[in-house]
Amino acid sequence: MKITLIHGQNHKGSTYHIARMTAEKISSNIEEFFFPRDLSEGCSGCLACLYKGREFCPRAEQVTPILNSMLSSDVIIIGSPTYVFEMTGHLKNFFEHIYTAWIAHRPEEAMFSKTAVVVSTAAGGGMKSVTKSMARQMFFLGIPKTYQLPFRVMAASWEDVKIKDKIIKKTDKIAREIVKKRKVTPGFKQKFIFSIMRSMQKKNDYAPLDKKYWEEKNWFRKDRPWKHIK
Ligand SMILES: Cc1cc2nc3c(=O)[nH]c(=O)nc-3n(C[C@H](O)[C@H](O)[C@H](O)COP(=O)(O)O)c2cc1C
Repeated sequence: MKITLIHGQNHKGSTYHIARMTAEKISSNIEEFFFPRDLSEGCSGCLACLYKGREFCPRAEQVTPILNSMLSSDVIIIGSPTYVFEMTGHLKNFFEHIYTAWIAHRPEEAMFSKTAVVVSTAAGGGMKSVTKSMARQMFFLGIPKTYQLPFRVMAASWEDVKIKDKIIKKTDKIAREIVKKRKVTPGFKQKFIFSIMRSMQKKNDYAPLDKKYWEEKNWFRKDRPWKHIK
C-alpha cells in the first residue's frame, strides 16, 4: 500500500511522531511532505485554477506533485498541531490550493476509493475541532473514509507526552483496520452531496471549465466517479 503523509508543520514534534507512526504501521511505502517547506507561499486568489485549470496556478510546480502523490496513494495521512483551535495556517493554505478538486468543482475519481487518517495534538483543547475540520476537507475531496485521531497531549514536546501508551494502542487499532479493510466506497451522504453538485453544475454558467469536466466525465448521464472503483 502506498501512503502520502502530509505534515502541516516543518518540525518533528508530537503530531509528527503520531502521524509517522500511524503510517509506518500500515506500510513502508511512504511519500512525505512538510508545510511550509514544500509549499511556502499562500494562495493569491487569482482563480486561475477555477477558470483556466490547476496547472495555471502560480504555485503549480509545488502543488501538483503533492496532489499527484495523494492520487496515487491508497491511504492519505495528514497531521497538524492545533494552533488557536484551528489547523495550522500552512496546512489550510495547501487545502486552498486544491479546492477545485472538491466535489463542488472538478473532483478526482481516484479520491473516491481512498482512506484518510487525520491527526491533531493540542496541549489543552481544540484538537477535536481540528480533526473534524481536516476530515471535512477529505470528505469534499471525495474521500469516503476518514479516521480522526485527536489527542490532548498536555505537552509542548513529544518527549514529555505521558499518554504514549494510549496513542500506541489507538494507532495500532486504526492501522489494523486499514490494512484489513482495503476497499472503501462513498456512503449516502457523499453520494447525496454529489447529486446536489450535479444539479448545480448542470446550471453552471460562471465556471465553464467545471461544467465541461462534468460533461466529459459523463456525470450528467449515468456515470459516477465511484463506479470505476475496483
Ligand atoms: C501558535 C500556537 C497556537 C497554539 N494553540 C493551541 C490551542 O489553541 N490549544 C491548545 O491546547 N494548544 C495550543 N498550542 C499548543 C500545541 O497545540 C501543542 O503543544 C501541540 O501538541 C504541539 O504539537 P507539536 O508537538 O506537533 O508541535 C498552540 C501552540 C502554538 C505554537
